Amino acid sequence: MIYPIVKFGNPVLEKPALPVTEFDQELKQLIEDMFESMYAARGVGLAAPQIGISKRLAVIDVSFQEDPDAKLVLANPEIIHTEGRHTQPEGCLSVPDFREPVARARKVTVRAQNAAGRWFEKTGEELLARAFLHETDHLNGKLYLSHLSALKRDLIKRKIRKLAKAGEW
Ligand code: NI
Repeated sequence: MIYPIVKFGNPVLEKPALPVTEFDQELKQLIEDMFESMYAARGVGLAAPQIGISKRLAVIDVSFQEDPDAKLVLANPEIIHTEGRHTQPEGCLSVPDFREPVARARKVTVRAQNAAGRWFEKTGEELLARAFLHETDHLNGKLYLSHLSALKRDLIKRKIRKLAKAGEW
């Protein structure tokens, strides 16, 4: 099932999500639906709050479906190591049509549980490192906009308010 993506302005995006505690069939279905929803929206990462579900769960595939091994499930992720600095344009499915350069760590190690509840660690660089940070931020109720200058953030929020007024958000 493809879920609609929740957009900036919905409070679910700005509250910390609750831990995943049951690694059952229902969770596996949710994970499948999240991958399907992410691919349909042409994203490389999707966090459960972005489909209105306040759970500490995210899916990532920075290979755009090219490499089946690139499909990652992060349940209850924690960032355990960061290294270096890297600035690249960043966007978010919940803030469509905006992209801004964001400085992030270049190399990131995440610790998380997979769909079966087994803990693992994974280190990613550049786009994957960025996805780990971006999705973990989502689960803490934080959007990439919070990494921009106040000036830039306000400008984007103003544009979004205008779009919302026009019924286009
Ligand atoms: Ni996002």
